[in-house]
Amino acid sequence: MEKETVIRPSLLACDFLHLGEAVEEMISLHIDSAHFDVMDGNFVPSISFGQPIFQSLKPYFDQISFDVHLMVNNPLEQMDSFFQLGSEEVTIHVESLGKEGREQLLLMKEKYPGRRIGLALSPESDISLLFPYLDLVDEILIMSVVPGKGGQKYIVGSEEKIAALAKRKKESHASYLIGVDGGINDTTGPLCLEYGADFLVAGSYYFKAEDKKEALAKIHQGVRR
Ligand code: DX5
Ligand code: ZN
Repeated sequence: MEKETVIRPSLLACDFLHLGEAVEEMISLHIDSAHFDVMDGNFVPSISFGQPIFQSLKPYFDQISFDVHLMVNNPLEQMDSFFQLGSEEVTIHVESLGKEGREQLLLMKEKYPGRRIGLALSPESDISLLFPYLDLVDEILIMSVVPGKGGQKYIVGSEEKIAALAKRKKESHASYLIGVDGGINDTTGPLCLEYGADFLVAGSYYFKAEDKKEALAKIHQGVRR
């Protein structure tokens, strides 16, 4: 089996009593990257988990990468902290950036060369909010649910944002990846891939599946070529 690079399971939906086993299962399914949702109870209403839990995953760092999605009000400080702890990839919300956002991201790139920086876009935001940063980032995460909790329904029309961004990316010969996060299943996942997504974050669909291998395969099989 080839490496599973398209679907990134969100650990927010896992059974926390068995976090290590969940990661080990992902590794056995050849999953490349696991999504780690950090919520601060401020940028979004809930509090999820943070640095201590992230550190407990350290034994797996050489087998799978963790894509840290920060839903927090002080994104740059937290990004710095997760990079310090060895994260390969951190995504922050474009809505949480201030006036100095561009300069701050540039500093972060300088401080942590080779690490991946992502920008997430909440459903109410227009993709034009991303334009000033597109030359700086490695990934864009289009949110297809309101950030803050798992298990929500995919917001229909999110695929139009993916298509518009994919078009812009092609025209500018850029190489950032386009991901989608929220309500991804075997119907919405293929749809997003058809509209130009490079990867999909899936929480409840993945963790609720009786046969995870089959659940992953169903997404790939659903794409009309
Ligand atoms: C929402 C999180 C998502 C969430 C996805 O705030 O950013 O990553 O875990 O969960 P599902 O796939 O259940 O919508
Ligand atoms: Zn997320």
